[in-house]
Amino acid sequence: MDIEKFALQRANYMLSLFEFNIRGFIFLSMQLRKLLLILFIFYGNTAFASSEHGPELKNVNWSFDGVQGTFDRQSIQRGLKVYKEVCSACHSLKRIAFRNLTDLGFTEEEVKAIAAGYNIQDGPNQEGEMFERPGRPSDYFPLIYPNEQAARAVNNGAFPPDLSLMVKAREGGADYIYSLLTGYQSVPPKGVKLGENMYYNPYFVNGSGQIAMPPPITTDNQVEYTDGTIATTAQMTKDVVNFLQWASEPEMEERKGLGIKVIIFTLVFTILFYYAKKRIWRRVK
Ligand code: HEC
Repeated sequence: MDIEKFALQRANYMLSLFEFNIRGFIFLSMQLRKLLLILFIFYGNTAFASSEHGPELKNVNWSFDGVQGTFDRQSIQRGLKVYKEVCSACHSLKRIAFRNLTDLGFTEEEVKAIAAGYNIQDGPNQEGEMFERPGRPSDYFPLIYPNEQAARAVNNGAFPPDLSLMVKAREGGADYIYSLLTGYQSVPPKGVKLGENMYYNPYFVNGSGQIAMPPPITTDNQVEYTDGTIATTAQMTKDVVNFLQWASEPEMEERKGLGIKVIIFTLVFTILFYYAKKRIWRRVK
């Protein structure tokens, strides 16, 4: 074999090695991109969210944050109490059924008792009339106003939105609701003229800072906690936001658990396929 031919062969070989490395590199970087995408899906709505209007949101340390986030059920149970005793005067929660509360660690009996505490409209009966009866676990949290106009009539023209999906509906999610509830300023900045019966809250999404909701959580021990937790305004706010986060996605823990399994599965198979490919193509070189 003359030296020229040998050199050519050698060069070809080096080239193919190089090509193989490039392919492997592209393959790996594609997998990495997939991984980043999955991470983005996990963290997306919390880590990258910021408010477009108003001041930067307060950054609260939530138990449900992150890939392995879980619900703090004690806090959510207290939050239910805050919702019932404070927010439910104006806001409905129509997508949550009483039976869903078993997720929070309530027993069937406790859920029955909570449901029975509500009057639910039912009917019509034999006489064609609607009637009220105590709630059952299969009922949903009842509406508060018969219609939107009635709601606006008693809320200074504004409509208190249903809170079931509120955390999902706002950029910034839980941080936004927390910032909003704790962000009232009793004295508006100079130059802002408040409308009648309006309140100043720079976090409110409409951008003007004027909101028709009076500050709902204002004094410590406004709600009586029975589990020993001290009911500061910050604590009650955190609890009610935890509750609303759960309400907006009760199946979050399953979703995240599944996500982790998918990532592990993808990783294992990526490695496996990489070595399988290497092995299969080894002789072709
Ligand atoms: C006295 C009635 C009242 C009470 C009590 C009340 N709200 Fe409201 N809420 C309103 C009204 C009215 C609006 C609409 C405000 C507007 O459009 O100016 C509103 C709006 C909201 C919004 C939507 C803000 C947005 O970005 O659109 C959230 C979230 C909210 N309330 C949460 C709560 C929570 C949580 C509680 C209990 C801790 C609560 N509210 C108690 C009347 C009330």
